[in-house]
Amino acid sequence: MCTIAHLRLSSPLILAPLAGYSDLPFRILCREFGAGLCVSEMISCHGLVYQQKKTLQMLASVSEEKPVSFQLFGADIYTMAKAADLLNEFKPDLVDINMGCPVKKVTKKGAGAALMATPKLARQIICEVVQNSESPVTVKFRTGVSNQSETCIDFGKMAEQSGAAAITVHGRNWAQAFTGSANWETIGRVKSSVSIPVIGNGDITNYDDARKKIANSGCDGVMIGRAALGNPWVFCKKGRPVNYAQILPGVLRHLYLMECYLDVNRLFAVVKNHIGRYFKNLEHSSTIRKQVYECKSFSDLKHFFTTISEKPILVKDQQEII
Ligand SMILES: Cc1cc2nc3c(=O)[nH]c(=O)nc-3n(C[C@H](O)[C@H](O)[C@H](O)COP(=O)(O)O)c2cc1C
Repeated sequence: MCTIAHLRLSSPLILAPLAGYSDLPFRILCREFGAGLCVSEMISCHGLVYQQKKTLQMLASVSEEKPVSFQLFGADIYTMAKAADLLNEFKPDLVDINMGCPVKKVTKKGAGAALMATPKLARQIICEVVQNSESPVTVKFRTGVSNQSETCIDFGKMAEQSGAAAITVHGRNWAQAFTGSANWETIGRVKSSVSIPVIGNGDITNYDDARKKIANSGCDGVMIGRAALGNPWVFCKKGRPVNYAQILPGVLRHLYLMECYLDVNRLFAVVKNHIGRYFKNLEHSSTIRKQVYECKSFSDLKHFFTTISEKPILVKDQQEII
């Protein structure tokens, strides 16, 4: 059982924050497939304080996705505190602080993983967000700044002392960005060093792998990022189906949720981010992807997938593919 503050998660497998992907429709979908909690895309504290339209759209939520965590990023203490206060209106179950993003656009302003290089500032930010938030606050960070500076144990203790209700550790350091592999031994050492729940993160590929990593590291839960893209089945024991007939209902459900909840102007671009990924490693997937890229609108796409799920129409070398 994974419990964070008062929140008992139905599963210790959590959808990681994924900018450009973990929007409301994808979060609902992952919850339906078994995720115990989903984390939003990172939300700029400045965007929230200045009430930017795009930022406010990211705060869309519905009761059926609950529990949900909204992730804030920023490096300005006052603005992070104000953003935490503004988030109260949206009643997220948790508020997460991003202290792990290695992307230049974020770190050059001192936010994301750069906060691991300025632990005093990180501490002040956590304390202020905790003080201003009506929801429990969690912190997501990395193993450290670089191989020479793996500070995650002290950083985890600092987060705990500052009032964090749980921490997530991505088993890579800032310098590694997404290269190399996640160090689960280090994640396990952080777990042994603090008393709050620890969520491990990095390179989980499937459900069994998630369960094994929980057992071996002693973590309370795990976050799954890339392996969930085009694969919400990663959150259930049966795993991803191996044929088109079983995958298509998942695709149609995702399309339906996107149509329900996304701004029509963004719909087509977001769909294209997700859809091709559902067919990764399947036979003849290039034929499907080609057809997807030939679609000129969301309704073309929906029509294409509805038709192929009703009757097999993709034929190659005289053989029906679906
Ligand atoms: C496309 C993409 C977007 C991401 N966006 C965020 C984000 O908004 N906030 C965050 O803390 N981490 C973000 N991450 C990092 C993931 O949450 C996760 O820590 C990382 O991908 C490692 O987990 P995985 O191996 O399961 O993918 C992102 C990663 C990817 C690939």
